[in-house]
Amino acid sequence: MTRVRFLRPDGALDREVEAAAGTNLLDLAQANGQPLEGSCEGAMACSTCHVIVASDDFNSLPSASEEEDDLLDLAAHVTRTSRLACQLTLSADMDTLTVRMPGSAYHLDR
Ligand code: FES
Repeated sequence: MTRVRFLRPDGALDREVEAAAGTNLLDLAQANGQPLEGSCEGAMACSTCHVIVASDDFNSLPSASEEEDDLLDLAAHVTRTSRLACQLTLSADMDTLTVRMPGSAYHLDR
């Protein structure tokens, strides 16, 4: 099992969950009430599923593909540690992965 901490845009902890290795981060986020859109099934069709990865965790992730980097260039509120959640698969060596929701993920009524 891998623990994932989901942070709100202001950095406050929203929730911490456990998931099996092999779980897709976007699926886990959506199943746990995180305000991320996207359902490309891995085909990279949007930039609305991006999250900001904690810098300590970012370097231990597999590198983004050129196609992922290109899509991130289209997204708002991207930082140097942003990744598309749909492209991240949890592995045991990620424990504990911490990701923050970008400001654009929250609607004005939240
Ligand atoms: S769901 Fe956004 S690129 Fe895959």
